[in-house]
Amino acid sequence: MTNNNEVKNNIVLIGFMGSGKTVVGRTLAGLLDYAFVDTDEQIRQVTGLTLPQLFRKHGEIRFRSEEELVVKKIAVKQKQVIATGGSLTPVATNFDLLRSNGWFVLLSADPQTILSRISRKNDRLLLCGKPDLSSLEKMVQERETLYKQTANFIVDTTKIGVEDAAKAIAQRYCAYVETGV
Ligand code: S3P
Repeated sequence: MTNNNEVKNNIVLIGFMGSGKTVVGRTLAGLLDYAFVDTDEQIRQVTGLTLPQLFRKHGEIRFRSEEELVVKKIAVKQKQVIATGGSLTPVATNFDLLRSNGWFVLLSADPQTILSRISRKNDRLLLCGKPDLSSLEKMVQERETLYKQTANFIVDTTKIGVEDAAKAIAQRYCAYVETGV
Protein backbone atom coordinates (compact mmCIF):
# COMPACT_ATOMS: atom_id res chain seq x y z
CA MET A 1 0.00 0.00 0.00
CA THR A 2 1.44 3.38 -0.94
CA ASN A 3 1.25 6.52 1.09
CA ASN A 4 -2.14 8.11 0.39
CA ASN A 5 -0.50 11.51 -0.09
CA GLU A 6 1.04 10.21 -3.27
CA VAL A 7 -2.23 9.06 -4.78
CA LYS A 8 -3.25 11.45 -7.55
CA ASN A 9 -6.77 12.65 -7.04
CA ASN A 10 -7.60 14.36 -10.30
CA ILE A 11 -8.63 12.17 -13.20
CA VAL A 12 -7.48 13.68 -16.48
CA LEU A 13 -9.27 12.48 -19.62
CA ILE A 14 -7.21 12.75 -22.76
CA GLY A 15 -7.88 11.67 -26.32
CA PHE A 16 -8.84 12.82 -29.75
CA MET A 17 -11.85 15.04 -30.42
CA GLY A 18 -14.94 12.82 -30.49
CA SER A 19 -13.50 10.15 -28.21
CA GLY A 20 -16.09 10.97 -25.52
CA LYS A 21 -14.08 12.98 -22.96
CA THR A 22 -16.87 15.39 -22.09
CA VAL A 23 -19.82 12.98 -21.88
CA VAL A 24 -17.87 10.20 -20.19
CA GLY A 25 -16.20 12.73 -17.88
CA ARG A 26 -19.48 14.18 -16.70
CA THR A 27 -20.87 10.71 -15.93
CA LEU A 28 -17.65 9.65 -14.22
CA ALA A 29 -17.65 12.75 -12.03
CA GLY A 30 -21.21 11.89 -10.98
CA LEU A 31 -20.20 8.32 -10.05
CA LEU A 32 -17.26 9.49 -7.93
CA ASP A 33 -18.85 12.65 -6.60
CA TYR A 34 -15.97 14.65 -8.07
CA ALA A 35 -16.22 18.07 -9.71
CA PHE A 36 -16.35 18.01 -13.51
CA VAL A 37 -14.23 20.49 -15.45
CA ASP A 38 -13.92 20.81 -19.21
CA THR A 39 -10.95 22.92 -20.33
CA ASP A 40 -12.60 24.00 -23.60
CA GLU A 41 -15.72 25.07 -21.70
CA GLN A 42 -13.57 27.05 -19.24
CA ILE A 43 -11.92 28.87 -22.14
CA ARG A 44 -15.37 29.65 -23.56
CA GLN A 45 -16.49 31.05 -20.21
CA VAL A 46 -13.37 33.14 -19.66
CA THR A 47 -13.26 34.64 -23.16
CA GLY A 48 -16.99 34.76 -23.87
CA LEU A 49 -16.24 33.27 -27.29
CA THR A 50 -16.77 29.86 -28.86
CA LEU A 51 -13.50 28.20 -29.86
CA PRO A 52 -14.05 28.83 -33.59
CA GLN A 53 -14.74 32.52 -32.78
CA LEU A 54 -11.64 32.73 -30.58
CA PHE A 55 -9.52 31.28 -33.38
CA ARG A 56 -10.99 33.54 -36.04
CA LYS A 57 -10.57 36.68 -33.94
CA HIS A 58 -7.30 36.06 -32.13
CA GLY A 59 -5.61 32.94 -33.56
CA GLU A 60 -4.02 29.88 -32.05
CA ILE A 61 -1.49 31.75 -29.88
CA ARG A 62 -4.29 33.37 -27.89
CA PHE A 63 -6.11 30.02 -27.61
CA ARG A 64 -2.95 28.42 -26.24
CA SER A 65 -2.37 31.16 -23.69
CA GLU A 66 -6.01 30.97 -22.48
CA GLU A 67 -5.66 27.19 -22.32
CA GLU A 68 -2.51 27.42 -20.23
CA LEU A 69 -4.14 29.86 -17.79
CA VAL A 70 -7.12 27.54 -17.40
CA VAL A 71 -4.85 24.54 -16.84
CA LYS A 72 -2.81 26.42 -14.23
CA LYS A 73 -5.98 27.21 -12.30
CA ILE A 74 -7.40 23.69 -12.51
CA ALA A 75 -4.15 21.86 -11.76
CA VAL A 76 -3.96 23.11 -8.17
CA LYS A 77 -7.46 21.91 -7.28
CA GLN A 78 -8.42 18.47 -6.02
CA LYS A 79 -10.97 15.74 -6.75
CA GLN A 80 -11.88 16.72 -10.26
CA VAL A 81 -12.55 14.87 -13.46
CA ILE A 82 -10.88 17.02 -16.10
CA ALA A 83 -11.89 16.70 -19.76
CA THR A 84 -9.05 18.15 -21.81
CA GLY A 85 -9.19 19.56 -25.34
CA GLY A 86 -7.91 17.05 -27.91
CA SER A 87 -4.84 19.12 -28.66
CA LEU A 88 -3.94 19.91 -25.05
CA THR A 89 -1.92 16.96 -23.81
CA PRO A 90 0.78 17.06 -26.45
CA VAL A 91 1.73 20.52 -25.16
CA ALA A 92 4.47 19.82 -22.61
CA THR A 93 3.74 22.68 -20.21
CA ASN A 94 0.11 21.65 -19.77
CA PHE A 95 1.06 18.05 -19.42
CA ASP A 96 3.58 18.83 -16.68
CA LEU A 97 1.08 21.02 -14.82
CA LEU A 98 -1.59 18.34 -14.82
CA ARG A 99 0.74 15.45 -14.11
CA SER A 100 1.60 16.53 -10.56
CA ASN A 101 -1.85 15.50 -9.34
CA GLY A 102 -3.34 13.81 -12.38
CA TRP A 103 -4.18 10.18 -13.11
CA PHE A 104 -4.50 10.03 -16.89
CA VAL A 105 -7.10 8.09 -18.83
CA LEU A 106 -6.91 7.85 -22.60
CA LEU A 107 -10.25 7.54 -24.38
CA SER A 108 -9.73 6.12 -27.82
CA ALA A 109 -12.05 5.29 -30.70
CA ASP A 110 -11.50 4.12 -34.24
CA PRO A 111 -11.08 6.93 -36.78
CA GLN A 112 -14.28 6.05 -38.68
CA THR A 113 -16.28 6.36 -35.44
CA ILE A 114 -14.51 9.63 -34.57
CA LEU A 115 -15.27 11.03 -38.01
CA SER A 116 -18.95 10.20 -37.78
CA ARG A 117 -19.18 11.64 -34.24
CA ILE A 118 -17.47 14.92 -35.12
CA SER A 119 -19.40 15.28 -38.37
CA ARG A 120 -22.72 15.31 -36.52
CA LYS A 121 -22.11 18.83 -35.22
CA ASN A 122 -20.66 21.81 -36.96
CA ASP A 123 -19.61 23.84 -33.91
CA ARG A 124 -16.26 22.21 -33.19
CA LEU A 125 -12.86 23.22 -34.21
CA LEU A 126 -10.10 20.82 -35.05
CA LEU A 127 -6.73 22.56 -35.11
CA CYS A 128 -5.74 20.76 -38.26
CA GLY A 129 -8.96 21.65 -40.12
CA LYS A 130 -11.75 19.36 -41.32
CA PRO A 131 -10.12 16.08 -42.25
CA ASP A 132 -11.08 13.24 -44.58
CA LEU A 133 -10.82 9.71 -43.22
CA SER A 134 -7.25 9.06 -44.29
CA SER A 135 -5.82 12.31 -42.89
CA LEU A 136 -7.83 11.77 -39.72
CA GLU A 137 -6.35 8.28 -39.38
CA LYS A 138 -2.88 9.75 -39.64
CA MET A 139 -3.62 12.46 -37.05
CA VAL A 140 -5.21 10.00 -34.64
CA GLN A 141 -2.19 7.75 -34.96
CA GLU A 142 0.28 10.58 -34.36
CA ARG A 143 -1.55 11.96 -31.35
CA GLU A 144 -2.25 8.54 -29.87
CA THR A 145 1.45 7.86 -29.71
CA LEU A 146 1.75 10.90 -27.42
CA TYR A 147 -1.45 10.20 -25.51
CA LYS A 148 -0.32 6.63 -24.83
CA GLN A 149 2.94 7.78 -23.26
CA THR A 150 0.85 9.71 -20.77
CA ALA A 151 -2.01 7.32 -20.04
CA ASN A 152 -2.38 5.29 -16.85
CA PHE A 153 -5.46 3.55 -18.25
CA ILE A 154 -7.01 3.26 -21.71
CA VAL A 155 -10.67 2.80 -22.62
CA ASP A 156 -11.84 2.22 -26.19
CA THR A 157 -15.23 3.91 -26.57
CA THR A 158 -15.86 2.63 -30.10
CA LYS A 159 -18.28 -0.07 -29.03
CA ILE A 160 -19.19 0.72 -25.45
CA GLY A 161 -21.64 3.32 -24.18
CA VAL A 162 -20.98 6.31 -21.95
CA GLU A 163 -22.17 4.60 -18.72
CA ASP A 164 -20.01 1.51 -19.27
CA ALA A 165 -16.94 3.59 -20.11
CA ALA A 166 -17.44 5.70 -16.98
CA LYS A 167 -17.95 2.61 -14.80
CA ALA A 168 -14.81 0.94 -16.18
CA ILE A 169 -12.76 4.04 -15.34
CA ALA A 170 -14.31 4.42 -11.88
CA GLN A 171 -13.56 0.78 -11.09
CA ARG A 172 -9.95 1.01 -12.24
CA TYR A 173 -9.43 4.33 -10.47
CA CYS A 174 -10.80 2.97 -7.17
CA ALA A 175 -8.38 0.04 -7.46
CA TYR A 176 -5.57 2.54 -8.04
CA VAL A 177 -6.57 4.58 -4.98
CA GLU A 178 -6.74 1.41 -2.91
CA THR A 179 -3.45 -0.14 -4.02
CA GLY A 180 -1.45 2.81 -5.36
CA VAL A 181 -0.92 1.05 -8.72
C1 S3P B 1 -8.93 20.38 -30.77
C2 S3P B 1 -9.87 19.78 -29.98
C3 S3P B 1 -10.84 20.55 -29.18
C4 S3P B 1 -10.32 21.93 -28.81
C5 S3P B 1 -9.68 22.64 -29.95
C6 S3P B 1 -8.68 21.85 -30.74
C7 S3P B 1 -8.07 19.54 -31.64
O1 S3P B 1 -11.18 19.82 -28.02
O2 S3P B 1 -9.42 21.89 -27.74
O3 S3P B 1 -10.74 23.03 -30.74
O4 S3P B 1 -7.34 20.05 -32.48
O5 S3P B 1 -8.13 18.30 -31.49
P1 S3P B 1 -12.12 18.49 -27.98
O6 S3P B 1 -11.21 17.34 -28.11
O7 S3P B 1 -12.72 18.56 -26.61
O8 S3P B 1 -13.14 18.62 -29.04
